[in-house]
Amino acid sequence: MQLIPSRPAGEVMRALSAGQPCVFANPLKVPDALANSRLSLADIEAAEGRLRRFAPLLQAVFPELEETGGIIESPLLPGDALASYVGLQLEQLWIKADSALPVAGSVKARGGVYEVLAFAEKIAREAGLLTEGDYRSLGSREARDCFSGHTVVVGSTGNLGFSIGLTARALGLGAEVHMSSEAKAWKKARLRKVGATVVEHEGDYRSAVAEARRIAEADPKRYFVDDEHSETLFIGYATAALRLKEQFAQAGIVPTEEAPVVVFLPCGVGGAPGGITFGLKAVFGEAVKTVLVQPVEAPCFLLRALRPDEPDITVYDIGRTNRTVADGMAVPCVSDLVFQLVGKAVDGFVSVSDPAMLDWVNRTWRDMELRLEPSGAAGFAALERVLPEMERPARARFVVWTTGGAMLPDDEFEPLLTTSLSSAGTGGAR
Ligand SMILES: Cc1ncc(COP(=O)(O)O)c(C=O)c1O
Repeated sequence: MQLIPSRPAGEVMRALSAGQPCVFANPLKVPDALANSRLSLADIEAAEGRLRRFAPLLQAVFPELEETGGIIESPLLPGDALASYVGLQLEQLWIKADSALPVAGSVKARGGVYEVLAFAEKIAREAGLLTEGDYRSLGSREARDCFSGHTVVVGSTGNLGFSIGLTARALGLGAEVHMSSEAKAWKKARLRKVGATVVEHEGDYRSAVAEARRIAEADPKRYFVDDEHSETLFIGYATAALRLKEQFAQAGIVPTEEAPVVVFLPCGVGGAPGGITFGLKAVFGEAVKTVLVQPVEAPCFLLRALRPDEPDITVYDIGRTNRTVADGMAVPCVSDLVFQLVGKAVDGFVSVSDPAMLDWVNRTWRDMELRLEPSGAAGFAALERVLPEMERPARARFVVWTTGGAMLPDDEFEPLLTTSLSSAGTGGAR
């Protein structure tokens, strides 16, 4: 059974070019797409091992991790309060609330924190600081002095830079965060407060990343976290699948091909949703389906699925603006690395308008007190659009990944609630 409808490529391209919301099955999909991948479940398990080794140190540097012993994880919440909006029954809708992920409040922290830890481990090992295997010792004066000679550099629309800056500074590493024009003032202010250098760029995400890469390449003491090309980030995101497996078990959810779980993942450059897709397919196979969601003005992964042989194709090439209220997803060109790793594994695609995302920011707040940024609410807008078109088994369940927002200050969040929905944003027709 095909859950999501296939559509002729020409029809989809016309809709994307016109900035209209669309829904389509991945035309590149093949079963068992990960079979020949150079990455595997063993890589994800190794990453999970590294996160566990670092947990005592994280617990020591981030007081909010006291209760979880240094493990950074978000809850899987029942979505019953919202199910009726989309015509689902009780227990069919679930929310994976990375919007409330401790430390940095977004899905990007899964990769960002992980890559900073991997880098810190490498430096510590080379400096002979890890002889006893006790990672708490990496909080010592000697270790922090060693870390302070290195700077982590990153380019970001906001949330990746935020998580990397906070983690690097907590360990005593330098942090230089290059922010694209979308990045919010409060994230920059908070980074500066912890001693990170914030470099503001007038241009889009791609130009901020390119500039950060150029600066870092010229200096051996700078380490560049490459949101477009990093396998380390990708594997960091993928660890979410192992955590979700435990949470599914606790909730009594057993994904099978007859009772699949369909997961909605907001997508920008592709790293976070791609890594999570990789993890979910590695852990659950085809019992879990993934649907990537992008704004109508920045549908870069959707576009690449229609033009697989054009790695440099951008949303500007089809007349879209890359301007959207969903700042985390304002990315003009998808990561080629991610596309190569999961382009044939993803099940479906949806593009959504700015007003639709804002509608869900309002509903989730009103009905569940779930504070979401527009990117974080995109999965709901996609679910609402897909369900009427879906051929779905009665026992299917749906997980909306809310990818960011709990840390939004009131003065950023409240205007989203009062925005008139009919005129909100720049994202085209609903
Ligand atoms: C809140 C939020 N959701 C989703 C994404 C998309 O992640 P990616 O750019 O890795 O596709 C981002 C990216 O910054 C984000 O900040």
